[in-house]
Amino acid sequence: MSSTEELKKEAGIHAAKFIKNGMKVGLGTGSTVKYTILELSRRIKEENLEIKCVPTSIATEKLSLENGIELYELSSLNGLDVVIDGADEFDQDMSLIKGGGGALVREKIIAQAAKKVIIVADESKKVQFLGKFPLPVEVIKFSWKETRRKISKLLQLDESKIIRRNIKDSNVAMITDNGNYILDLHLEQIKNPKKLENSLLNLAGILDCGIFFDIADVVVLSTKKGIEIVNNKRA
Ligand code: A5P
Repeated sequence: MSSTEELKKEAGIHAAKFIKNGMKVGLGTGSTVKYTILELSRRIKEENLEIKCVPTSIATEKLSLENGIELYELSSLNGLDVVIDGADEFDQDMSLIKGGGGALVREKIIAQAAKKVIIVADESKKVQFLGKFPLPVEVIKFSWKETRRKISKLLQLDESKIIRRNIKDSNVAMITDNGNYILDLHLEQIKNPKKLENSLLNLAGILDCGIFFDIADVVVLSTKKGIEIVNNKRA
């Protein structure tokens, strides 16, 4: 296992300690939270942990079911106690970029449904300014070219570069769990995440974007020196 993978594993397993009997838990998407899901599966089997879980993506649904975790519809639970999820970047205000795995819409819905949002990350995700990681934006298929034109104009981007391709076949666009496309915006530096999020969400045809502003409560950060728990200053 590479050292980055080790760090992901440590963060993922550590975060599972926040989960107690009886909790309603959102399960995030990605290669870090995968370890949280596996650890929760172990605790369900070995410690009789009783929790109700909601997945943030079809990939997480599959992983959870394969590992014996019973899943619920978000609408059946009347809110969640906590969600544990990964991030592509987080800054010192704990604003995030998410959606590297294309699951940003369900991830944001579930984060907003949860009383506490815990992010699992290795130290490579910590940045001074968001934006080196291309910002994912989920757009409705019907109008995607018009939406792309609008975004390109708003942010002065090259239109040809921003549609996300299917990993297995780069000739076709990636389709999200909600049946939409993802545009990845190469911005380099986002000075005002909230303002950018508002401008993007003003455009019809954009379902959501990967800026998660003032949503995270805790980051379980895995560093070479060990686990660091970073709390949101407002928490
Ligand atoms: C999924 O859409 C994303 O938001 C992931 O949570 C994010 O990309 C982090 O994934 P990794 O833990 O795989 O880096």
